[in-house]
Amino acid sequence: MPAIAYVNGKFSLIEKAVVSVEDRGFQLGDGVYEVLRTYNGRLHAIEAHLRRLFRSLAAIELKHHFTAARLERLMREAVRRSGYRDALVYLQVTRGATKRMKEFPKGVPPTLVITARSLELSSRAARRRGVRIMTAKDVRWLRCDVKSVCLLPNVLAANKAKAAGCYEALFIAPDGTLTECASANIFIVKHGVVITPPKSANILAGITREEVIALARKHRIPLKERSITLKQLFAADEVFLTGTTTEVLPVVRVDNHRIANGKPGPVTQRLYELFLEHVG
Ligand code: PDD
Repeated sequence: MPAIAYVNGKFSLIEKAVVSVEDRGFQLGDGVYEVLRTYNGRLHAIEAHLRRLFRSLAAIELKHHFTAARLERLMREAVRRSGYRDALVYLQVTRGATKRMKEFPKGVPPTLVITARSLELSSRAARRRGVRIMTAKDVRWLRCDVKSVCLLPNVLAANKAKAAGCYEALFIAPDGTLTECASANIFIVKHGVVITPPKSANILAGITREEVIALARKHRIPLKERSITLKQLFAADEVFLTGTTTEVLPVVRVDNHRIANGKPGPVTQRLYELFLEHVG
């Protein structure tokens, strides 16, 4: 089955799709994006992803005429053309293609790119045994709530993590508290209470994070949104990650510290099961 791309009005095979070398996404990282996935051919949490996309577009003052209905139709069409039941859908909007300049160009239409491809999930073994992650200094900007395509710090940290045999890099703010991972949000469990850093400009308000919080509330699993120190992380009973492709994934090792007995914990497992029911 083919990976499909849509670029400014035209669908094609992904390898045939092109954007201009003058595109501000390429030249300046001047754009925002969303990553969605399908479950059995159905785009999951599309309204929430589009709401966040429109928030990101407004935050970077990118003028556009996109409507949620049109973007939804294009994403569905990309998935349909790809033929994948389990597809990874990427949507990117940049401030268009024009002579390179830092200030906003006038009268230049935005570039819209959508791709739909096969979804690669974390292995079953990783899910059963739990994963290792490593900490990294959070050297990102002060608007991590905007899903910007400027991902260099995430790229560098993720690459370091991969080289060290870790699933993810966990960013630590200068004050010693956890923010989030390069592509996922972080949660801990202590004495039966699920804890995750509160929404702020320092983290992306993950859609999966919101879903897990809602599930915990609905099923009366105690949950607090508050900052977490490294020390609290190392002393946690359970640690897990959330994200569109990560879903709910147990962490059993952070740097050289084993989390509790080094095995995925019951609260994480319960939340994963509730999440599967919710998306199923
Ligand atoms: N990443 N934090 C960061 C920095 C992320 O990049 C992501 C998602 C998340 C989790 O958000 P959500 O639950 O909405 O997927 C948190 C996507 C998948 C990516 O960049 O590939």
